[in-house]
Amino acid sequence: MEIDFSKAPVEVKNLRSQFGDNIVHESLDFQVGSGEILGLVGGSGSGKTVLMNTLLGLKEPDGGDVFYFGQNRSSLSYKDRQSLNNIMGVLFQGGALFSSMTVRQNIMIPLREHTDLPVPLMRELADMKIHMVGLPAHAATLYPSDLSGGMRKRAGLARALALDPKLLFLDEPTAGLDPIGASAFDQLILDLREAMGLTILMITHDLDTLFTICDRVSVLVDKHIAITDTLPNVMKHPHPWVQEYFGGPRARAAINAGDGAGAS
Ligand SMILES: Nc1ncnc2c1ncn2[C@@H]1O[C@H](COP(=O)(O)OP(=O)(O)OP(=O)(O)O)[C@@H](O)[C@H]1O
Ligand SMILES: [Mg+2]
Repeated sequence: MEIDFSKAPVEVKNLRSQFGDNIVHESLDFQVGSGEILGLVGGSGSGKTVLMNTLLGLKEPDGGDVFYFGQNRSSLSYKDRQSLNNIMGVLFQGGALFSSMTVRQNIMIPLREHTDLPVPLMRELADMKIHMVGLPAHAATLYPSDLSGGMRKRAGLARALALDPKLLFLDEPTAGLDPIGASAFDQLILDLREAMGLTILMITHDLDTLFTICDRVSVLVDKHIAITDTLPNVMKHPHPWVQEYFGGPRARAAINAGDGAGAS
């Protein structure tokens, strides 16, 4: 398919998602701009992961449309959808590496699935990704259980990057990391965006991440996106959930930390 890179990489219009009687999204509009790091926040169970799965094409919308670079997913051929899969990388909530496989084998999974490359070349590509995410070379032959939490996140990221995606989806990438590990991971995301020209959608509860690396932030509340804007503007939004979320003591601490960094 011809991809028009001037169009929004991914967009949903008037999305409805439901499981039985449980309506998760209704009249939801959402767009990720080219080259941006967009943070997605919302309460637990508000439907962030379901939205991400819908954008990934893993869940069919129950109403509304999904567009990739301006083209309606429902009008694409099976082959075009397959090639779209190749430009999307994902780090699922919780990471989910296969515990019986080494780091290198985990990273080779998407290559095996989507390419016909010779195995030695796949190995080489996997090792390049290991290097790119800042893991030591010897991590290639380690099993997930041999890794620290932060290293496991990096290994999951390396797998998400295996096919050199244009679009990267991250679901709570810094959850469970200590503040130093989390901010190193944030920096890595920034560097990779630069190096690979990525567009990134990141679901996160991490206020520091929102403040330091997200260009814009979307708020999922009341089954739809209430606002997408720069963080200072989002914080002015009157919705009570937004006010509580960004007005709490943890948010204030993150803002103050940001101010400190800016002033020094
Ligand atoms: N496969 C499924 N079958 C039935 N209900 C589901 C399924 N997946 C998600 N849901 C429901 O959809 C709603 C939104 O879930 P989702 O996982 O998207 O929340 P979330 O915003 O990602 O929450 P968290 O921050 O805790 O990860 C929840 O009510 C959940 O129970
Ligand atoms: Mg979730």
